[in-house]
Amino acid sequence: MDVEPGWRALPAGRELSPELLRLREEAFAWLEPYYDRVHLTRAADWMLVLAPDAPEHLVLAALMHDLERSVPGGPSLDKANTSWDDLAYNTAHTHRSAEVVSGWLRDHGAPPSFVDGVQQPIREHEFGGSPEGDLMQAADSISFLEANGDLVTGWALRGECTVQKSEEKLRWMYERIRLERARRWALPYMERSIDQLRRAAAGEQQR
Ligand SMILES: [Fe+2]
Repeated sequence: MDVEPGWRALPAGRELSPELLRLREEAFAWLEPYYDRVHLTRAADWMLVLAPDAPEHLVLAALMHDLERSVPGGPSLDKANTSWDDLAYNTAHTHRSAEVVSGWLRDHGAPPSFVDGVQQPIREHEFGGSPEGDLMQAADSISFLEANGDLVTGWALRGECTVQKSEEKLRWMYERIRLERARRWALPYMERSIDQLRRAAAGEQQR
């Protein structure tokens, strides 16, 4: 596949296990009330573009990789004053997500290969590392830049951080990508989101 994936599209000609298809539907229901559900859904869609033969646990990992944020008590990031690549915050976020998602899979009757298999790639989704981690990071970046122009613009408009800091987030999500072949998809989404942010900020100044 060499084009933007359809919403929740699955690769043509690939047979996926009944366990994967069942858990995917249950995960869609879990992330329905989550504020960034589109980003998570698209991360799984993009995973299957980057790696149409990705192991099934990697598709589930992409789909749920941020969901510790839906469980109260997690780490919080001071957007105005903390660097986007802050090691302490990102480590706490990724490791907690690995635990939360793995536990959810166990509670939903997933096979051990899924329960165990999602952990390392979710822990690596911000910085990459292993081949699976690099795929996760790339799918996360492309999807974030595709889906979250409004979210990042909103941070600046509400004063949660400066316009410049919002732009730095978008640039970081692109520049961190370790999987070289993923960059051509991420770049136009980054440019579009930065353009949206700058236009919104300029419009605010005129009011
Ligand atoms: Fe994410």
